Amino acid sequence: MQLTMTLTAAASIIVTIDGPAGTGKSTVAAGLARRLGLEFLDTGAMYRAIAWRALEAGIDPRDNDAVTALALASTLRFDWKADPPELFVDGRACGEAIRTPAVTAAVAIVACNAEVRRAMVRQQRAIAAAHPRLVTEGRDQGSAVFPDATVRIYLDASPEIRAQRRAEQLQSKGVHVDAAAILASIISRDASDRARSEGPLVRPVGAAVVDTGNLAVESVVDALELIVRQRATRAHALPPPCADDGALSGDSAS
Ligand code: DC
Repeated sequence: MQLTMTLTAAASIIVTIDGPAGTGKSTVAAGLARRLGLEFLDTGAMYRAIAWRALEAGIDPRDNDAVTALALASTLRFDWKADPPELFVDGRACGEAIRTPAVTAAVAIVACNAEVRRAMVRQQRAIAAAHPRLVTEGRDQGSAVFPDATVRIYLDASPEIRAQRRAEQLQSKGVHVDAAAILASIISRDASDRARSEGPLVRPVGAAVVDTGNLAVESVVDALELIVRQRATRAHALPPPCADDGALSGDSAS
């Protein structure tokens, strides 16, 4: 029995984390993956990479046919040795180039392109097949891409709190902020994420909902770790919790 347990490969485990912009998904998903010894997939980066390449190529993000052709012709590859994994498009590292305001505006349009979404979903499933112990983060991961994921999580926070966090981030970089414009942009991104016909932002069935509004990043990671440990089985072979994890003290989120 002991020998069988030792030789059996750890069961695959997919943890999905969805939610609107500004809930801190990427940061906490990467932190959770590190805690649990899982790999991390940032699916927003994949949409951003297509939007970035479209802008570089002078393609109007609203030109669905041209953006679809570009998405189908582009090779997206993650370097899984980096932490978090680094995305390359056609051999070029994306780095911070996919995080500019111009790309953020373009990607909101590109992400509504149904053909692009289907291409990204195919790639995300192929990635999960090759990396079956994964925390994946986005808008549609638990609802459309991996509806049978081991654990589905939905992060939320009010638009006002998300806008305030964004303003503080920018201010800390010395950028002048227009608080009202940031709030308006968050509300408009929510509307576009929720209204699209393909892969809209919804709370996945059976998802654990965590409101990150009043929680520091580490407390959110603690809460998510607790949820995953409660929902996973021994066969998923998660590493034992660290003695100083807040998750051990039952720290939780609403
Ligand atoms: O999380 P983010 O801001 O990096 O996402 C970039 C854009 O891509 C954003 O407009 C939402 C969209 N997106 C999506 O539609 N589906 C995903 N799975 C991930 C991101």
